[in-house]
Amino acid sequence: MARILTGIQSSGRPHLGNILGAIVPAIELSKNPENESFFFIADLHSLVSIKDGQLRHEYARAIAATWLAFGFDFEKNIFWRQSRVQEHTELAWYLNCFTPFPMLANATSFKEKSEKLADVNAGLFTYPVLQAADILLYNANIIPVGKDQKQHLEMTKDIANRFNQIAGEDILVLPEPQIDERIMTIPGLDGQKMSKSYHNYIDIFLAENELKKVIKKIVSDSKALEEPKDPESDITFKLYSLLASESDVETMRQHYLNGGYGYGHAKQALLECMLDKFAEPRRKFNYYMENPEELESILTTGEKKARAIAQDTIAKVRKVLGFSS
Ligand code: TYM
Repeated sequence: MARILTGIQSSGRPHLGNILGAIVPAIELSKNPENESFFFIADLHSLVSIKDGQLRHEYARAIAATWLAFGFDFEKNIFWRQSRVQEHTELAWYLNCFTPFPMLANATSFKEKSEKLADVNAGLFTYPVLQAADILLYNANIIPVGKDQKQHLEMTKDIANRFNQIAGEDILVLPEPQIDERIMTIPGLDGQKMSKSYHNYIDIFLAENELKKVIKKIVSDSKALEEPKDPESDITFKLYSLLASESDVETMRQHYLNGGYGYGHAKQALLECMLDKFAEPRRKFNYYMENPEELESILTTGEKKARAIAQDTIAKVRKVLGFSS
């Protein structure tokens, strides 16, 4: 049996990148009866960037609603908010003391922002250690993530290895990332990686007219309607090809190559494809957002299950570190 684990930060509503890069592949893995899945809302991580508590709370609800909207079986598996299981922060501190400073200084997530050090808080610097704690606390084996998390996963393995070596016992289980090659990085409206922080994301749960406005913003070149177009370099086509059936993608490819087909047509086809493909998740998402008590009760049950496992690992770690009686 394999333990699958992944988390999404509550630093915004989930976007298409989170959904295709992490949520959908993770739920697919969770359907294998051999697997046991641990999916959580990384609300502690979101504190690095978001200080408004009410906003974080709303985003956490939206993330929880998304997992459920895409069919995560919360009864068979484990589903919780990171902040409600204090062992995450406890293990993170222990691991901090086993993490070499240069490893964190080399993390891309830190380096990207480190030109403006005055704007960076220590939470951003030690962010990968909290992530390592999230994973190691549950002895997880497989971590389905987007490509941007690859380095964090390598760091998790390094930290666990170091801890085990110094402790002289294999207490922490080394995980493996699982990154789907086809959907490693979902592009945003401007062709860069889709990200909350680049403001280039598509929120698939928006009302139809709002979603249409967002899709219209996808950047394209300025070729006229009648000209042939290059499907491979076009963002709308890329997004469409991630969602539509093979034959529909082929039809759109031919339209691009033949000319007489505008980017407006392609965007309309993308909108319709999203509304069709995500009809059921959109309905369920709205249901959970309108029924917060139900969501709360699901998460509270999950928290109890998560805490029991986390406490087990922490007890072993405390023992080897000389913190238990
Ligand atoms: P976060 O919240 O930035 O993203 C959540 C998941 O979505 C994936 N993702 C994407 N995949 C493909 N294309 C994109 N444009 C795209 N944008 C986001 C991310 O790769 C990720 O899998 N540090 C993590 C949260 C975390 C975590 C963990 C993940 C905390 N602890 C333990 C796994 C295991 C993060 O910020 O993800």
